[in-house]
Amino acid sequence: MIITVIILVSLFSAIESQSRVKYCYVCRSRGSLGDCGDPFPWNQTTVKDLKGVEASPCPSGWCGKTIEGKEGDPIVATERMCLQRPPTDQEERCSETFFENKREPLFMCFCRGHLCNHSSSLFVNYGILAVMPVFTYLYQYLFA
Ligand SMILES: *[C@@H]1O[C@H](CO)[C@@H](O)[C@H](O)[C@H]1NC(C)=O
Repeated sequence: MIITVIILVSLFSAIESQSRVKYCYVCRSRGSLGDCGDPFPWNQTTVKDLKGVEASPCPSGWCGKTIEGKEGDPIVATERMCLQRPPTDQEERCSETFFENKREPLFMCFCRGHLCNHSSSLFVNYGILAVMPVFTYLYQYLFA
């Protein structure tokens, strides 16, 4: 009985977190100018006080980050954005990409989830975390 309730609650919270409107950080900065670069210490509350950074609704639920130039380079440029559509394989990842018109590689990251394009935890998959308890309890229920 308790187990059923726990399963239902976990399922509903997982579904709820999937359906809520997702936001992404949107900004661009070059070198040490601006607040867009890493580390990115802002959250949804503190970002409201910043000029060049905003949290924007993102229909696809996929956010991105690009870093142009090498790390430590004084003219390294960072951009955070909402992706129009998810990557075709629906995989969260970072990779180096060359664009036709650029000589320097572009480091690009994609992630899915509310404001996921902050800095380090770009790849924690909150969807999996939310559904995890369900599997744990199902497993215990069925096999213990
Ligand atoms: C955002 O960051 C500020 C300062 O670090 C902190 O006081 C506040 O609780 C944070 N808000 C959220 C929603 O995490």
